[in-house]
Amino acid sequence: STKNSIIFRSVKTLAESPELTSVPSSYTFATNPDDELVTDPDDDDPIPVIDYSLLFIGTPDQRAKTIHDLGRACEEWGFFMVINHSVPKSLMEKMVDQVFAFFNLKEEDKQEYAGNKNVTDPIRYGTSFNASMDRVKFWRDFIKIIVHPEFHSPDKPPAFRDTCEEYCRKTRELGRELLKGISESLGLEADYIDRTMNLDHGLQIIAANLYSPCPQPDLAMGMPPHSDHGLLNLLIQNGVCGLQVLHNKKWINVSSAPNRFLVLVSDHLEILSNGKYKSVVHRAVVSNKATRISLATVIAPSLDTVVEPASELTDNQTNPAAYVGMKHKDYMELQRTNHLYGKSVLNQVKI
Ligand code: SIN
Ligand code: FE2
Repeated sequence: STKNSIIFRSVKTLAESPELTSVPSSYTFATNPDDELVTDPDDDDPIPVIDYSLLFIGTPDQRAKTIHDLGRACEEWGFFMVINHSVPKSLMEKMVDQVFAFFNLKEEDKQEYAGNKNVTDPIRYGTSFNASMDRVKFWRDFIKIIVHPEFHSPDKPPAFRDTCEEYCRKTRELGRELLKGISESLGLEADYIDRTMNLDHGLQIIAANLYSPCPQPDLAMGMPPHSDHGLLNLLIQNGVCGLQVLHNKKWINVSSAPNRFLVLVSDHLEILSNGKYKSVVHRAVVSNKATRISLATVIAPSLDTVVEPASELTDNQTNPAAYVGMKHKDYMELQRTNHLYGKSVLNQVKI
């Protein structure tokens, strides 16, 4: 086979160069005025934790309370953690190991997937956030893979494909079940979101992120504040913290607990719920000590689905639709061609 060329310099390559003692200016942000607003979760207002098993084996009261709690979490935080879920811990660990193994491949092998830029390219290896739009680069390398309705995988490392396929099947099931509970919490039939968003043919993307150790972590960012497209993002990580979520105008550090899913409400759920549920603005910070891996799994409508506020949740007099309908694939294109900052893309479909 032909030898691949190097299309861009990854942060990993940069971070591993022995002469690197400071952050190059192309990655340097001015001091962020927000940084005084960073805090750990408050004991009086903890990050919501959902016991997934209670949706299935709980008493009717426990199940009803869990659905109520899901709704509250989507409304007040746009973020929650899921425990006692259906994805085996060993599979989560294996998947994170395979992501590590991918990033540890020779740069030429990874760059086979570099240069793909369209949102529908099945495998994209890249760096920064929205590279063609970023004025300052982000301290992050990533691979994004479309895994549903058609499954794709890089060929290396050898165990990646099978592990990834199983992980994606299990997380898709988890996401769809959570969305049933969320449908009910909105007063809709349990399968409402699944059906109207065509999740049998739903788009599922995994985005694996590598944050290499950064010599001056206060000067660089891993990812800017943004919200995600799709319905839910099911996130896991390798035991190193770095995610912050915006809650009541403060950046809350999300601690790293093993065997949990960190679930982020995403833009299409905000639109579908007509703004009752809020997509969460989040960002990633970097560290000078450890390498961080995070793995996002986006559960999203099929690309041809028009996402709009549920007619059951709107009426012309008291609660008019607050967002225009848009095909998922057009929404993704909007994301690709915009500076993503906060809810800048979502705001474009707001009425
Ligand atoms: C994400 O924005 O989806 C992931 C951020 C992180 O690395 O925790
Ligand atoms: Fe995100």
